[in-house]
Amino acid sequence: MNIPIKTPDEIEKMREAGRQAASVLEMITPRVVAGVSTGELDRLCHDYIVHELGSTPAPLDYHGFPKSICTSINHVVCHGIPDDAKRLRKGDIMNIDVTVKTADGYHGDSSMMFIVGETIQGERLCRVTQECLYRSIARVRPGVRLSELARAIQEHAEANGYSVVRDFCGHGIGAGFHEDPQILHYDGYAPEADATLAAGMCFTIEPMINAGKYQTKVLRDGWTAVTRDKSLSAQWEHTLLVTESGVEVLTARGDEDFALLDR
Ligand code: MF3
Ligand code: CO
Ligand code: CO
Repeated sequence: MNIPIKTPDEIEKMREAGRQAASVLEMITPRVVAGVSTGELDRLCHDYIVHELGSTPAPLDYHGFPKSICTSINHVVCHGIPDDAKRLRKGDIMNIDVTVKTADGYHGDSSMMFIVGETIQGERLCRVTQECLYRSIARVRPGVRLSELARAIQEHAEANGYSVVRDFCGHGIGAGFHEDPQILHYDGYAPEADATLAAGMCFTIEPMINAGKYQTKVLRDGWTAVTRDKSLSAQWEHTLLVTESGVEVLTARGDEDFALLDR
């Protein structure tokens, strides 16, 4: 197992990729309203990435994925496929997952939840899931083991009566969309589970938290992952850089303040 360390030149390119991915989520936020179709949101993101940013939506044609973003509604855990017939309704929660590949060839990967109308259960799940992400980000610094990041997520999720999805994980990122290591969000086995973080590593943390049991299944479209018990699922994702002093959130948006992280 060999976790790549980015050069200063690569780090600059990762910063740009991260900023771009964040800007797509900021651009799309006001468009996520009841009645809009996920196909429409996909087109808006695609056109923004290609024409405004001069970059490529990495999911498009990735192992055959047919669209430019993933849109995962309610009990969809991840990899939901945008669809013109799928319209948002009041009470829905939805994750939009954006991955940009810049003209320089580097990836920025980030996702966030949107709450349409009002849903008490949905809001609580989305908030706790974002707290899981933030708590694990707060642990990132040289010398920390990957298993400690997983523990921060699992403890908080389970303390709130939720479960952590085991079938999908975070990942190293750079010129490759998915690089080593795998970043587990629960206490489990991965080849690099006990690897130690070092400055210059780039990876995502992207916990998927279910209101019910952790088991998932993939629908017959080959992509859409859902909770087996049909319970609600939420996910938040950031692309991170390990720095000498801690962490830089490469995909931070304007609505976030990481100075508040309890480190
Ligand atoms: N963006 C997802 C991730 O966080 C991967 C999506 S792959 C796709 O790793 F093909 F479904 F788009
Ligand atoms: Co990712
Ligand atoms: Co992603």
